Amino acid sequence: MSAEIELSDVRQVFRVRGDEGREVQEFVALDGLDLTVREGEFLTLVGPSGCGKSTILDLISGLSTPSGGSVKVGGRQVKEPGLDRGFVFQQYTLLPWRTALANIEFALEAKGGLSKAKRRERALEYLDLVGLSDFANRFPHELSGGMKQRVAIARSLSYEPEVLLMDEPFGALDAQTRERLQEELVGIWRRTGTTIVFITHDIEEAVFLGQRVAVMSSRPGRIEAVIDIELDRAATDEDIRSTAAFSHYRHQIWSLLRPEGVHRGAHLEEVHRVA
Ligand SMILES: Nc1ncnc2c1ncn2[C@@H]1O[C@H](COP(=O)(O)OP(=O)(O)O)[C@@H](O)[C@H]1O
Ligand SMILES: [Mg+2]
Repeated sequence: MSAEIELSDVRQVFRVRGDEGREVQEFVALDGLDLTVREGEFLTLVGPSGCGKSTILDLISGLSTPSGGSVKVGGRQVKEPGLDRGFVFQQYTLLPWRTALANIEFALEAKGGLSKAKRRERALEYLDLVGLSDFANRFPHELSGGMKQRVAIARSLSYEPEVLLMDEPFGALDAQTRERLQEELVGIWRRTGTTIVFITHDIEEAVFLGQRVAVMSSRPGRIEAVIDIELDRAATDEDIRSTAAFSHYRHQIWSLLRPEGVHRGAHLEEVHRVA
């Protein structure tokens, strides 16, 4: 299952305390942001720290509502969180007192409509999808970071969301584990066809995973460019990351993200005193 995501003219303003006084100011985190993620697409979103990446995912997930503009998933306005949208965070969010299997079963209980036996069957199916069949009865503290993140992905996929939102999910992992999980995730995406929005501040990760890479600028957060990634993954036995095409995309995105490329320093105009 998959769905299109459409953000149009989105604005997000936070009320924050001023640096010196106690007066409240408005901080414009996102402004005039347009982004469409096609049904079944794997889109990566890359941008400097603090540019508003997580803010965008919060809006798509329904954890927050925009100050202006519209956010739609599957043609419907997002009003609140729902199980049509799965979320995987950087921090491991498993329940420590439940096994890998029971963590997934618990999520399926929340979804409802499945018998206990069906929940178990489904949970095992998704543990298998992420290669953890043999670890079903392990508790989170008995799993490595990479395994915990795999369980979190399996959990999100188990309730078969139309959209999978991932906020720097591999950021805390070592380089090797991260590369393995990147490859697995692409495989999972091919098999499930779920629309994926994947946030990262790692350019290589963005190019490796994305069918398209959306590049953000900061203050206020906007989509600076959306780049089609055309890598012929089947054509080569060598690591796709060492091909000329890969370097080309990496350089293109790096150039867009250079300090001169993004509008830093403009932020003072974006902070208005609230009368
Ligand atoms: N609830 C909030 N209140 C005030 N400011 C916030 C809040 N959430 C995010 N911000 C600010 O909005 C900007 C974007 O934050 P965020 O979306 O987390 O960035 P990113 O994920 O790209 O690092 C940052 O400057 C951050 O400090
Ligand atoms: Mg973030």
